[in-house]
Amino acid sequence: MKFEYAHGATPLDPDEIAGLIPLHITTQSQLNEWEAANILKAENWLFLHSNHRNFLTIEFTKLLHTKMFGDTWIWAGQFRTTERNIGVSPFKITTDLNNLLEDVRYQIIHKSFPLDEIAYRFHHRLVAVHPFPNGNGRHARLMTDLLLIQAGQARFTWGKQKLEGEGPIRKQYIEALTNCMIVIFALTYLKNGKNW
Ligand SMILES: Nc1ncnc2c1ncn2[C@@H]1O[C@H](COP(=O)(O)OP(=O)(O)O)[C@@H](O)[C@H]1O
Ligand SMILES: [Mg+2]
Repeated sequence: MKFEYAHGATPLDPDEIAGLIPLHITTQSQLNEWEAANILKAENWLFLHSNHRNFLTIEFTKLLHTKMFGDTWIWAGQFRTTERNIGVSPFKITTDLNNLLEDVRYQIIHKSFPLDEIAYRFHHRLVAVHPFPNGNGRHARLMTDLLLIQAGQARFTWGKQKLEGEGPIRKQYIEALTNCMIVIFALTYLKNGKNW
């Protein structure tokens, strides 16, 4: 099958494509539908059946990805081993993610920012690490929603439209993330000069 990638999506490499579990899938729309059903099942598990006190851990981050994509990809819940044009080097994923989760746990306890701000900073840094071969956007949005819900707030609307396919809301969302990346890049450069 030939994969179509929406703007800002991470293309899969051939090994990852070989990890598709449902053998009957031959078109992109079948895959989209299958993934959406898999994610719906994960959301039911996430919001209806369990209490997730220790969700800001590597273990839970992987578990949620497994729940979201485990019926679809054999590599669900495993960190990526290949480079991407966004995301840190594969060997830095565990350290950077641990730092991020530790920072967010601290920010929640100490109320370092308003909760919404903690949530969108978390989402941005999580997609910037880009831990998985695919599904990082959907996974980071669900992790962020869980953070809000655990704190007693409503989920973000994420623009009220589906962000998975092409459309004006996805375009704005990707542009906002890109601009944020440029600012972080510039600030890091200014702070660390040539040695960064
Ligand atoms: N320039 C960017 N800066 C930061 N994050 C980005 C950028 N472009 C895309 N993203 C994030 O990466 C996601 C795409 O990665 P991918 O692993 O394909 O996730 P998904 O399969 O859920 O769409 C986007 O939904 C967005 O969250
Ligand atoms: Mg993708």
